[in-house]
This record gives sequence, structure tokens and C-alpha cells, in this order.
Amino acid sequence: MRVAVGADHAGFPVKAEIAALVARLGHEVDDHGTHSTEACDYPDTARSVAEAVAAGRADRGLLICGSGLGASIAANKVPGARAGNCSDRYSAHQGVEHDDMNILVFGARVIGIEVAKELVEAFLAARFSGEERHVRRLNKVKAIEAHYSKIEP
Ligand code: RB5
Repeated sequence: MRVAVGADHAGFPVKAEIAALVARLGHEVDDHGTHSTEACDYPDTARSVAEAVAAGRADRGLLICGSGLGASIAANKVPGARAGNCSDRYSAHQGVEHDDMNILVFGARVIGIEVAKELVEAFLAARFSGEERHVRRLNKVKAIEAHYSKIEP
């Protein structure tokens, strides 16, 4: 898969290790910055990663900020982005299997690098189940998005 990876300055210290893991797992890394610990604004990288995923230029996204919250809030404003802030392995794969989560977000100030790597592995290995009840719920989520995007289905 092509995986868009982005971080703000709080996530930057772990971004390289996460990107290296993504590559080791056989995926292509699409780096959306940031490229230093100089303070930047999380909505910029979140938007860039979310737009890449929503437009199909990337299959999945990974976002890292301090708490994981700002980046997930910002990413979820992009129609088609389904970003989840995770700190446990179960959510990292269940979010894909049930909710078709396409962007994993985590807080570099909240979880350690080893937990983060487990989340990334679980997220990238997971696939949407396609079960009827999950498709139905996902379609309801898409309907909310379409309504408020003024793009009626
Ligand atoms: C940066 O200091 C911090 O506010 C940001 O990384 C993130 O945690 C926002 O949600």
C-alpha cells in the first residue's frame, strides 16, 4: 500500500522510526512532513495527509501530533477521511475492520514508540470486513458527511 505519513513538531521525533517501519512492512511511504522540531500547525499536515487518502493518492494515512487529538479533528474535516486517534492495539485494527478507518492517529506525547509501532502494524494489516451491518453503518456515516458537505448522495 501507499501510506501517507505526517506529523507536527510534537510527532516529528518519532516520524522517521514509524516511516522506517512502514517501509520494512513492504509499503511505500509518502512523507507529508514536517521535517524538523520547529513549531508548526497540526492542521497543515493533517489536511495534507487526509486529502491524499481521500483523493486516492494514498491507500492509508498515519498522523502523529502531541496528543493525537488535533490531527484527528482536523483530518476528519476532509470528506472521505476517517481518522481515529488510537492508543491501544484493539482499536487500531477494529477501527479498520468495522469502521473502515483509513487514517491512524496517535499522540507521541501519550504513547511510547513500541506501542506506536504495534498500532501501526495492526492498522496496516487490517482490512474492512465488508459485513452488512458495518457497510450499513458506514453508509450512514457517509450520509452525514454528504449532508453537511452539501454533497447530497
Ligand atoms: C503541539 O504543542 C500540540 O498542541 C499538538 O501536537 C497536538 O497535541 C494537538 O492536538
